[in-house]
This record gives sequence, C-alpha cells and structure tokens, in this order.
Amino acid sequence: MRRKEGQMIELAEQFARAFLASDPSGHDWWHVHRVRNLALEIADREHADAYICELAALLHDVADVKLNASKQEGLDRVRDWLERVGEDPAVIEPVMEIIANMSYNGGSNAPMTTIEGQVVQDADRLDAIGAIGIARTFAFAGSRGHLIHEPGEHRSNTKTAIAHFHEKLLKLQELMNTGYAKELAANRHQFMEAFLQQFHAEWSEYREEDRTDDS
Ligand code: ADP
Ligand code: NI
Repeated sequence: MRRKEGQMIELAEQFARAFLASDPSGHDWWHVHRVRNLALEIADREHADAYICELAALLHDVADVKLNASKQEGLDRVRDWLERVGEDPAVIEPVMEIIANMSYNGGSNAPMTTIEGQVVQDADRLDAIGAIGIARTFAFAGSRGHLIHEPGEHRSNTKTAIAHFHEKLLKLQELMNTGYAKELAANRHQFMEAFLQQFHAEWSEYREEDRTDDS
C-alpha cells in the first residue's frame, strides 16, 4: 500500500540527512532544511503543489554532481530511492524532472516548465544569496583551497570566493522565477552589494598611506 505523504516526507528527510550529513562545501543538511522551508513558503504564495515541492527540495542535493561520480549517478540514486520506498510514478516523474533541471550550470539550463520546479529552484537560489549565501561561498572556497580574493592586477587562473559573486551570485536576483522569490531576493541582493562594497573598501583602505610611507 502507498505510504502517506507525511511518512514519505519523513523518510526523504532521513535519507537526505544521512547522505549529506556534514558535507563541508555548503551542501550540508541545513542547506536542505532551509531550502525546504523556503520552498514551502513560496509554494504557499504561488499556489504550487506543496508535496512535490517539499519532496524535491529534500532530495535535490542528493543528486548533486559534486557529491556523485556523475550527474547520471546522482539522478539514479534519487530515482532508485523513490522507487524502493514505493512512491507513485505520478510523483516520481515531476520530482525527478525538477531535480534534473535545477542546477545553475553557468545559467545555461532550460527554464523550469512547472510552477513546482520554479518554486524549488527559487528556494535553492535564495539560499545561495544574502548573508547565508556569503557564508556558504566562503565555506565552499575554503573546502576547495581557493583564496578569498585576488585583485585584478594580480589575478591568476585560480578561482576566488569574491570572483564567484560576479560569476554567479549577483546574477541570481534577476533569475528568480516567481514574484514572491523576487521580493525575498531584493533584500538579500542588497546585503551582498553592501558586503562587497565594505570588503573592497577595507581591502584598499591603507594603500595610499603605504605608498607615501615607502617613497
Ligand atoms: P547549485 O546547487 O545551484 O548547482 P552549487 O552547487 O554550484 O549551486 O553551489 C552551492 C554553493 O556553493 C552555493 O552557495 C555557491 O555559491 C557555492 N559555490 C559554488 N561554486 C563556487 C565557487 N567557485 N566559489 C565559491 N563558492 C561556490
Ligand atoms: Ni541546493
């Protein structure tokens, strides 16, 4: 017999918790916890199917290519699990479609076709910006051995945390699918702008004086 939705959510949560545990690159369980809560909040405002959104949010990073040998292996891991616990194909298909199309991929993925996909993608992107996005970016950079920042004239080929803001994070506000996520993104975006402004101000604060002293 098919399990109740509440029971499935509990199982999905256990599965995601066990798989992600304490991943140090910003994909830990608490990221999933926040994305799930954001997804439910946006789903409510946008009249999307809450169950599909919650299940996809809970499982989305189990399939992340950074935590699997390949994108396909990650997707198979989620699908196998959904089949093993006896989920209905009418739920498995939309959930898998969301997870398969959700990642940023340099901004080149096709747009989400369902409102549920738009909601979960927005929730994931909201967690990449604002104060939490800043924290995750530096955690990720640290986990990869990247530098915090390299000023333009010294830039080598290495990626830095600050460069990631320009490559991706500052673009996310514009890419929000839903009206409510756009509202939530505005405040987080402003906070990142303020952070970067302060960061660069501190970085170059004493440069003038140093030069005068040296000469
Ligand atoms: P998505 O789930 O959309 O595919 P990612 O897995 O690429 O996003 O990113 C997860 C987290 O890691 C985000 O908070 C993101 O900002 C951060 N991150 C990804 N790539 C980098 C990078 N090169 N430098 C710093 N942070 C990064
Ligand atoms: Ni995520």
